[in-house]
Amino acid sequence: MDSFKILKTQDGSATLFSKIFGESYHNINGAVAEAVHIYANAAYKTKATSINILEFGYGTGLNAMITYKLLKNENKYINYTGVDIQPLSSKLLIEIGYKKLLGLSTKEYNSFTESWNETLTITDNFLLTKIRCDILNFDTSNRFDLVFYDAFSHDIQPELWTKDLFDRVFSMLNDGARLFTYSSKGLVKRNLRDAGFFVKRLAGPPGKRHIIEAQKVL
Ligand SMILES: C[S@@+](CC[C@H](N)C(=O)[O-])C[C@H]1O[C@@H](n2cnc3c(N)ncnc32)[C@H](O)[C@@H]1O
Repeated sequence: MDSFKILKTQDGSATLFSKIFGESYHNINGAVAEAVHIYANAAYKTKATSINILEFGYGTGLNAMITYKLLKNENKYINYTGVDIQPLSSKLLIEIGYKKLLGLSTKEYNSFTESWNETLTITDNFLLTKIRCDILNFDTSNRFDLVFYDAFSHDIQPELWTKDLFDRVFSMLNDGARLFTYSSKGLVKRNLRDAGFFVKRLAGPPGKRHIIEAQKVL
């Protein structure tokens, strides 16, 4: 707990500040606004009815919970895999307050915050697997349609934004798959392009001019 501070963001939702990394988990201009704008909307707008999602930097689970909320009553089948090296304590997660804010049942909320390294059926159309693992060592035989790339920034963790890692991510994707990230750093764009992605800048959420969409187009 001492390693974290809970901060209130501009849209009223809370986020965490990591004292170890010196960075917050979400945009200080709105944690929920960011999760909706960059990540959940990408899933919502994806036309396919079956979508395999990979999140790098699962953290509080906010992106996953919001994606679930937005798609729960849609005719889509979601298989969501979140990867993080450091699952957060239940106590800290309760204090952040997303259960109440998002109106999740205890069963739903527990699925997003507990039981790592197993696949949980939250509803018949939403499966969730949270994997405790270093992104650098993550390997899978699954192929994904969407990637939510939500690691700490390049300034803090440059090793998580390299061409080599993007090469590996590229190989985990179905043709046409798209990666979304809050980062719009030139070097990140370049490394994504060098790994074979077609990179576009999109308008960002409040307080952020641009975000990146990178597509695997063969
Ligand atoms: C910006 S936060 C993610 C915020 C998260 N998406 C959310 O909605 O709460 C970055 C996350 O990356 C995780 N992380 C840092 N280094 C990592 C690594 N090498 N492998 C896996 N996860 C890592 C941190 O533990 C943290 O949860």
